[in-house]
Amino acid sequence: MLSSLGKIKNPFLRSITTASTFLSMVTLISAVAIGLTNPQDKSANKIGVYASLLATAAGAAFGLAVKDKSTTRQGKIIQLQPEHNHTWQDWRDFEIFRKVPESKEITSFYFKPQDRGALPDYKPGQFLTIKLDIPNQPRPVIRTYSLSDYTFSGDYYRLSIKREGSPKGLNVPPGVASNFMHDRITEGSIIPCKPPNGKFFLDVESSIPAVLISNGVGITPMISMAKACSRFNPNRHLWFIHGARNGEFHALRDEVNAIAENYNNLHIHYRYSRPRPEDEGQYHSQGYVDKKLLEDSILTEISQIYGSSSAKFFLCGSPSFMDSIKDGLRELDVPENNVYFESFGGGSTKGQSKTVATNQAAVDKAEVVFAKSGQTITWTKDDGTLLEFAEANNINPDYSCRQGVCLTCMCQLQEGAVEYLEQPASEPDEGSVLICISQPKTAKVVLNL
Ligand SMILES: Cc1cc2nc3c(=O)[nH]c(=O)nc-3n(C[C@H](O)[C@H](O)[C@H](O)COP(=O)(O)OP(=O)(O)OC[C@H]3O[C@@H](n4cnc5c(N)ncnc54)[C@H](O)[C@@H]3O)c2cc1C
Ligand code: FES
Repeated sequence: MLSSLGKIKNPFLRSITTASTFLSMVTLISAVAIGLTNPQDKSANKIGVYASLLATAAGAAFGLAVKDKSTTRQGKIIQLQPEHNHTWQDWRDFEIFRKVPESKEITSFYFKPQDRGALPDYKPGQFLTIKLDIPNQPRPVIRTYSLSDYTFSGDYYRLSIKREGSPKGLNVPPGVASNFMHDRITEGSIIPCKPPNGKFFLDVESSIPAVLISNGVGITPMISMAKACSRFNPNRHLWFIHGARNGEFHALRDEVNAIAENYNNLHIHYRYSRPRPEDEGQYHSQGYVDKKLLEDSILTEISQIYGSSSAKFFLCGSPSFMDSIKDGLRELDVPENNVYFESFGGGSTKGQSKTVATNQAAVDKAEVVFAKSGQTITWTKDDGTLLEFAEANNINPDYSCRQGVCLTCMCQLQEGAVEYLEQPASEPDEGSVLICISQPKTAKVVLNL
């Protein structure tokens, strides 16, 4: 009851609510007591009336005393935070309750848990893993999508998904999951999801300036970061640099502009490569986001404010875009450990600071124990990655990107060691490995599969 009362912001409304609740409770209790003992006794009836009046007054006072839960100790109003400890294991069904087109290619989907339970908090920049039953696919299709909002009410998640067409010049089918989402998922559809995850997130409390650089659908985690910072650390300066072809392809522009209205330290720069006449006034410069823009504008502004151009850089976009920005930052002497990036797939981006031994030869042969399935099978080099090897032996672990990006295939390594064929773009948890890009490195490997 206390927590429900705390949600009523108006103190008079809260007072009236508690007064009437107390009145009803005490009147009911007195009526039952008098009825059971001596209904004819006038003095007992009087006591009942006094008790009810007293309860009403006490209820009114109590209602005024209960604190509005959205008021901090300093009296500054902040939104209620999402519940932190309600994470779930494995898959949980979510219902789509809104579907909103955001640009020519990108549509947002709003997810609510079907059980209407609480949602765990997440770090701005993290992603959600979803599972889709798509007709004619041999098994459920699993994909990861960045959470594109940072909700203070904590009662829904939002994903903004780009429709992936077939690559130019290739006669291959268009993207399976993204097209299914756009064409077949409607309000009311149910989608199983795993809890938010991912190592690419903004350290909101830090005072070091941050530069968020994105193109295309890479804008999604950046919106979450900018919103969280506007709420929890508005003294921190944040640069929001986004590249798009033109206004038709620029998703969520108004939403980002709206964040800046209440967050003076958010510096926005939109750069359009092929602006249309009607985009006039909606973008800041023409061309591609490149080293020169960073050097001439952003680093200069940071230096003017902070006296040094030291900052953290967060990158998300197409692989070629990120490679060129990373090269540019390196040439501008930005230390590697100040550069964070997320790849959405479609080719790996150049790693900078990973320490995985990729140049050592793997063993030619190994005993692989799949502990959960109780199978021990001999792996040889021709069997490929541990994921391919598991699949060939009818053990079907979850996967999505198959590129060491999304962490979907992450698996606990109980014994032995693995060798990565390419550097993982996302670091797995301690004691776990990404089986989509690894092979045995020791004669025996035990996986929790
Ligand atoms: C951490 C993370 C966060 C992400 N966040 C987002 C996000 O916020 N928004 C978003 O839109 N996406 C995001 N993605 C990307 C997303 O997970 C999917 O990869 C994307 O939607 C494409 O999936 P799909 O099933 O539609 O395409 P797929 O079916 O996987 O196909 C991908 C591409 O390959 C092409 N293709 C198909 N067959 C072949 C073939 N034989 N040879 C060559 N090419 C072929 C397809 O035409 C398509 O262009 C994220 C990815 C990661 C890893
Ligand atoms: S399947 Fe994405 S990291 Fe392995």
